Amino acid sequence: MSKFTDIDPLVRENIRNLTPYRSARDEQKEGLLLDANENSLGAPIRNDLELHRYPSPGQEELRKKIAGFRNVVTENVFTGVGSDEAIDLLIRIFCEPARDEILITPPTYGMYSVSAAVNNVGVRQVPLDENFQPDADRILKSADEKTRILFLCSPNNPTGNLLKRVEVMKLIELFPGIVVVDEAYIDFSGQESLTAVVPQYSNLVVLQTFSKAFGLAGIRLGSAISSPQIISYMMKVKAPYNLNKLTARAALDAFKEIDLVKFNIETICQERDYLIEQLEQAPTVEKVYPSDANYILFKIRNAESICRQLADRGIIVRYRGDLPGSEESIRVTVGMPDENVRFLKTLKEILS
Ligand SMILES: Cc1ncc(COP(=O)(O)O)c(C=O)c1O
Repeated sequence: MSKFTDIDPLVRENIRNLTPYRSARDEQKEGLLLDANENSLGAPIRNDLELHRYPSPGQEELRKKIAGFRNVVTENVFTGVGSDEAIDLLIRIFCEPARDEILITPPTYGMYSVSAAVNNVGVRQVPLDENFQPDADRILKSADEKTRILFLCSPNNPTGNLLKRVEVMKLIELFPGIVVVDEAYIDFSGQESLTAVVPQYSNLVVLQTFSKAFGLAGIRLGSAISSPQIISYMMKVKAPYNLNKLTARAALDAFKEIDLVKFNIETICQERDYLIEQLEQAPTVEKVYPSDANYILFKIRNAESICRQLADRGIIVRYRGDLPGSEESIRVTVGMPDENVRFLKTLKEILS
């Protein structure tokens, strides 16, 4: 059970005392709407969404739909412009610039450090071990009153593996601050989401996104699932109309096609396993890391040069040898079946 009954003391004082902006659509949604300086003559393009009107500030319909999908309630759900918005908001809510720090476990997703830097917040690092797993005891030893947020990523980007649930749970229980578990790739993993334990841990924030399993990176929609207390701070600090109507509509439509979403996840997982099997047989590939996500990290001699040679042939992969712990490594996203064949064929040509 969480050591926190109240996360208020962790919140920056100016945020605790903030009176949020009350937007026109918070006040009134119906009637002769002459209150928000919208264009009363309408949008110049055809639509059934009343695009000349501001969107819902609270996005209740969408948040309720996501809540139902993840077995929580609307008050547990924040929706933002990608999960990147949630990362930034959490740092702004909990970390005092020029004083506090976040704690990350490299190699991991780069936006945690970038958002911290933008907010003039320090970054403490406790690297993952040789199996890309967090060492809970080392992390706890490194944490103090300055490390306000621990960012864990499971499955981890760029390594692809799930973090061990026992270590993650130990950290949620004992870390003296907020624990964010970024589950951007959870639906490719077959593991149950940590949203299931959100009601028990008021310091836990689970990040999810529509950019991966839902195949909707273009609409920029992410969610944070957490205690109502943290969600209400996020709602208070976000821009009044952060999500637009087209994004909300696309996401609601996607839920009507959930069988297709699931079918695509299965196809991607099958293709991932095929790619792993093939990469393991490629010459000079030293290691193919197991993956619970829609990408694969592999270690190969002259990784940077191989990336360049692939790019010269029109195939773009990500060099990840620049990150501590993943030297000489390339991350490749699982493509369409014919794209995967083309990638493998080209790689083998380069290596022969
Ligand atoms: C681990 C992880 N978290 C978050 C994101 C960003 O997601 P979004 O598109 O929702 O901002 C990514 C994108 O690659 C990611 O890899």
